[in-house]
This record gives sequence, C-alpha cells and structure tokens, in this order.
Amino acid sequence: MYSRIIGTGRYLPKRVLTNFELEKMVDTSDEWIKTRTGISERHIAADDETTSDLAFHAAKQAIATAEIAAETIDMIIVGTTTPDLVFPNVACLVQERLGIAGCPAFSVETACSGFIYALTIADQFVRTGFARRPLVIGAETMSRIIDWTDRETCVLFGDGAGAVILDAAEQPGIIYSSLGADGRYRKLLEADSGISKAPGQGEKTALRMKGNEVFKVAVRTLESMVDDVIEKNDLAQGEIDWFVPHQANLRIIAATAKRLNIPMERVVLTVAEHGNTSAASVPMALDTAIRDGRIQRGDLLLLEAFGGGFTWGASLIRY
Ligand code: ACO
Repeated sequence: MYSRIIGTGRYLPKRVLTNFELEKMVDTSDEWIKTRTGISERHIAADDETTSDLAFHAAKQAIATAEIAAETIDMIIVGTTTPDLVFPNVACLVQERLGIAGCPAFSVETACSGFIYALTIADQFVRTGFARRPLVIGAETMSRIIDWTDRETCVLFGDGAGAVILDAAEQPGIIYSSLGADGRYRKLLEADSGISKAPGQGEKTALRMKGNEVFKVAVRTLESMVDDVIEKNDLAQGEIDWFVPHQANLRIIAATAKRLNIPMERVVLTVAEHGNTSAASVPMALDTAIRDGRIQRGDLLLLEAFGGGFTWGASLIRY
C-alpha cells in the first residue's frame, strides 16, 4: 500500500507586513531584504490568532478540496515549532475543532522541515496499513518567537499553515522520502529557551541565527540530498516536473534548482509574498501551485526543506 495526495489547503493571516513597514522598525531597507532573500512581504497572525487556528483553516480547505467527510480522517500529524500550548499538542486542538475525536493526533517539532517529517511519518503509517487517510499539516506563528529589534532575523519570517490529505492507494503517491538531522549545528539556529530551559528574568524566548553560516550548510546539505534523491530513483534530466522547496531564501532555492538542473520556471516560489513560514512553507507552496493549475495530476514533484536542529528532508511524489 502507498499514500497519495487527495487534497491540499492553506491559510494565511490577514495582516500583511511589508519590507517598507520593517524599514520603520529596524535599520534595514526593502532593497537589502529583496536582494539578499527575495522576500517582499509576509503575513502576521493577529494577537488572538494561534498556530492551531491557522492549522484548522488550512485543514478545512484541504478537506473541502479532497471532497471527503472529516470523519474519515484516521490520523492527524502537525509539523510545528510554535505550538499554542505545551500540551495538548496542536494536532489534538485541530482534531477537537474538526469534531473527529478518536484518531491518533500528534505533533512533530523539527522547525522548517516539520512538514516533510510529518508527511514521511504519515506515509510510513499508510504503508504499514496502520492508517488509511492521514491529515498532515505544517503550521507556524513564527512572529511569536521573533525579536522584532533584531534586523538579522525579523525581516525573514512569517506566519501561515498548509495542509494535505493523504489516502491509501495501490500506486504511489509518495515514491521516496529522505530525512536527516545533525544536532552538532544547534548553536547556528535556535530559540535558546522554552519550558524546561526557561528564559532569564524579563527575557522572552527568541529565535537567533548565524545567517551566513546557516546559509552555507543549508546549500551544501540540500545539494547532497537532491543528488541522493536523483541517484536512488534513477531520475533523468527533466523528469521532475515541479520543484517545491522550503521558502527560506531565493538564493538557496536557486542554488538547489541549479544542482537539480531544473529551470526556475519549474520552481514553485512563494517566498516573496510569504517569507519563511518554517514548517508551513512547503505545504503552502504546494497548495498554491495546485490551486493555480500549474501542478497537474500525474506530475512528478520534489519537495524539500532544511531548518533548525539542523534537520532536513525531501519527498519525491507523483501527484
Ligand atoms: N538589513 C540590512 N542589513 C542587514 C540586515 C538587514 N535586515 N541583516 C543583516 N544585515 C547586514 C549584516 O549586519 C552584515 O553587515 P556587515 O557586512 O557590515 O557585517 C551584512 O548585512 C551582511 O550580512 P550577512 O549575514 O553576511 O548576509 P547574507 O548575505 O548571508 O544574508 C541571510 C543574510 C538572508 C540571513 C542569509 O544568510 C540566509 O538566508 N541564511 C539562511 C537562512 C535559512 O535558510 N535558515 C534555515 C531555515 S530557518 C528555520 O529553520 C527556523
């Protein structure tokens, strides 16, 4: 048994924060942000909006697109690094709002690669016959762990959620998955406090990143990961129809696309409008290109992500 995608959805908070507004908050410029990252604007959750709210709306859209009854979902996995609460986890909160009590519901905390990890886990459950119709979500409110006075990070991130419904099928679907992690790099990208390691007096948990060091490892790791996907699957030049990368930085995406030998017209880009939404970025990009008709049934897709941990992953999918 394999798993295939039968529906996708996404949700972006209403509030849009532009580079020009950021110019008034920190010492930066629209030109610097655009040239270095490709980002023009990002969406920011309202004060009363949480990660599970965004996840719920994305899930509702995916359920409607798949034209299924929510009750037929038999597992919920959410990739997130910004959960509403310590517990219950975001998947349980979404389950409650969908009114589908009973099925297993849990979250995966691998920062930007959270959705790829969640998708791979769901696929494994389908392959073993444990689940038939998982709901997989990537959702984040990165704005809650941003230090809005740190120009090196506050210009990069945004909020959002993307969702996918998988269904058991005799043909793949998800053809091949790759996951990896290297905790030795933890200091290059981290939110260095939380619950068990509490923030200092008067401090708040905030994301810190050594941007250009992360950049170098990200490019190197993604290049070797896509080499591995090509080799293991014996992919010929031009065989991948659409590259759906994590949307952290246009320059990282372009370097990986070059390694894949795939033209930029075949790369799904949302980084300009979404910024880096961590675990939400890949499912939102996927939904964007499915909804606007670029990705068609039968197309071969390569999804990838790299993020804090470091963690990374890729999925080769026949849509
Ligand atoms: N506006 C203006 N100048 C800035 C800004 C800003 N917002 N931020 C930094 N600068 C300055 C720096 O201070 C530095 O100045 P200096 O030369 O006087 O010292 C200069 O710009 C260059 O800084 P770099 O950090 O070398 O710039 P770089 O070209 O590397 O771009 C960036 C920075 C965009 C952060 C890039 O390194 C990057 O994208 N890194 C990878 C991010 C990533 O992929 N993260 C993983 C996923 S995130 C997750 O998992 C949660």
